Amino acid sequence: MCGIVGYVGTRRVVPILLEGLRRLEYRGYDSAGLVYQHEGKLVRYRAEGKLINLENTVDENIGVASSTGIGHTRWATHGAPTEMNAHPHTDCTGELVVVHNGIIENYNTLKKDLLARGHVFSSETDTEVLAHLIEEHLDDDLEEAVRKALTLVEGSYALGVLWAKEPEMIVAARNHSPLVMGVGEDACYIASDVPALLPYTKDVIFLDDKEMTVLRKGEYTITTVDDTTPLNKPVTTIEWNAAMAEKAGYRHFMLKEIFEQPQAILNTVSGRIVPDTGMIELPEIGLDDIAIKSIERIALVACGTSWHAALIAKYWIEKWVGIPVEVDIASEFRYRSLLINDKVLTISISQSGETADTLAGIRRAAQMGSKILTICNVVGSTMTREADGVIYTHAGPEIGVASTKAFTSQLAALFLLTLYLGQVRGTMDSEQRIVYGAALIDLAKTIEELLPRLQEEIAALIESFYDSRDFLFVARGMNFPIALEGALKLKEISYIHAEGYAAGELKHGPIALIDKDMPVMGLVPQDEVYQKSVSNLEEIKARQGRLVLIGTAGDEHLSNLTEHVLYLPKVIDDLNPILYTIPAQLLSYEIANRRGCDVDQPRNLAKSVTVE
Ligand code: G6P
Repeated sequence: MCGIVGYVGTRRVVPILLEGLRRLEYRGYDSAGLVYQHEGKLVRYRAEGKLINLENTVDENIGVASSTGIGHTRWATHGAPTEMNAHPHTDCTGELVVVHNGIIENYNTLKKDLLARGHVFSSETDTEVLAHLIEEHLDDDLEEAVRKALTLVEGSYALGVLWAKEPEMIVAARNHSPLVMGVGEDACYIASDVPALLPYTKDVIFLDDKEMTVLRKGEYTITTVDDTTPLNKPVTTIEWNAAMAEKAGYRHFMLKEIFEQPQAILNTVSGRIVPDTGMIELPEIGLDDIAIKSIERIALVACGTSWHAALIAKYWIEKWVGIPVEVDIASEFRYRSLLINDKVLTISISQSGETADTLAGIRRAAQMGSKILTICNVVGSTMTREADGVIYTHAGPEIGVASTKAFTSQLAALFLLTLYLGQVRGTMDSEQRIVYGAALIDLAKTIEELLPRLQEEIAALIESFYDSRDFLFVARGMNFPIALEGALKLKEISYIHAEGYAAGELKHGPIALIDKDMPVMGLVPQDEVYQKSVSNLEEIKARQGRLVLIGTAGDEHLSNLTEHVLYLPKVIDDLNPILYTIPAQLLSYEIANRRGCDVDQPRNLAKSVTVE
């Protein structure tokens, strides 16, 4: 997600900001900007695309002596990645600027109020609302104005604020988005992440949610948004080198991204479920209620891991909304005889929004009269521009080639879509939406608590399996696609041959492969097909297959089948596919790591396949 850097001290600020932003490039971004203080004014530069474009526009000669400023790399969430939407954003006077990482959930309401009060906006971003909101409360105390504004804001933020009238001061705050302070001699820093600070200081303070800080040359105070009493927070000395710091201490980006999944799921559902009423809000969907009620069939089109998300959505939508759903691999969809017309809604699922086959698929469906909805992680990507409507997943950039957090965020978005379709077509009542909406939010917490224990257990377990030649994954019902996803993950990063099967299909062929050397991972939650799955596992055990089972906490029957059992908490059946993805990812990760594979950049694979 976005990167923030800020400096107030005695050195020239522009090179510090640019170097800091360069060190945050790994977070992904599509535009960049910076601002510095110069003779009582703020000088701002912004540019689309890579940092080099920003560097080429900055005239350092103007602010050569400037030693206070903030910079930003933007990963678009609200509004396309254009110069106009790049940060820093200003208030009406141009004397106050804000950089922000996160999502202001109530920005629409706040913006309406501010427009009514005469504020003039110049971007499509949620961030600009913050600048105007602070302006609204600004008299002569910037800290107080920021505090007042933040009490009105719902959502996540890490932000840095500069005001022309306070040339040697930065106000910063955080809530659910990362922000770290650096402390140096005669200087203070802020950054989204430690790598930006490492060339200058190793002494940092990690801000917690709802904390604010006022930075001046070599001095700072930390308070909270709700209370002006100064806090005494510990200074941590960082021992990481730059490469370790980019991965926040994780061995690989993939592992970091696996651990980021609770936040990615929360970001995806954030602001879209009204807890008390169960109302689902998807304003960018681009289809009115009449259009949704007239859908006779849904065609889901995707590739790779995104195709697995589509397979699960079929179970959800057919069960809860009653619309027939067909699922196609995009490279097949684009060439086969299609029965598509204006009563069919075509939905593409793509983390990148650029996959060539998926793009060709939706173009073909659009030509045949279908409306196009896309579920995508990249704002402004080709698919989002060509579709009639979009549901963004807000997973943040995914760097590991094997998709993890983008996948579970797609599932969260597809589950929201199911609830939304059920709401509009009247197939789910508000009580059901309240329960299922809350369960999705709770799931993020469950996964967060589970991850450290599960990683430890899996790291120990794979010692018996990491040198296997083959692997089978089996499951039934809506978890069957997770068997496919588990097998795909394992082959992608460990190069072990792996297959996923619907457990009921075993006896139609794959059971011939079972012997004492064949590991079989079974996903067996106690759901409505549990007994059927257990029968299939018995058949594998009878042929000496080496079972690794993942099931519901307390299910002792599984430990009679094998010594290798991992237990997961009970969640509602429909959300098991998201939960059971986590051990499948960790198993693949730990095996690949144990085998010494290049986990983040597996051979022959690309993150985004933009050619046919
Ligand atoms: C590539 C990636 C996969 C991804 C697939 C579809 O193969 O390596 O991780 O699932 O493309 O990409 P998309 O961006 O359309 O989801």
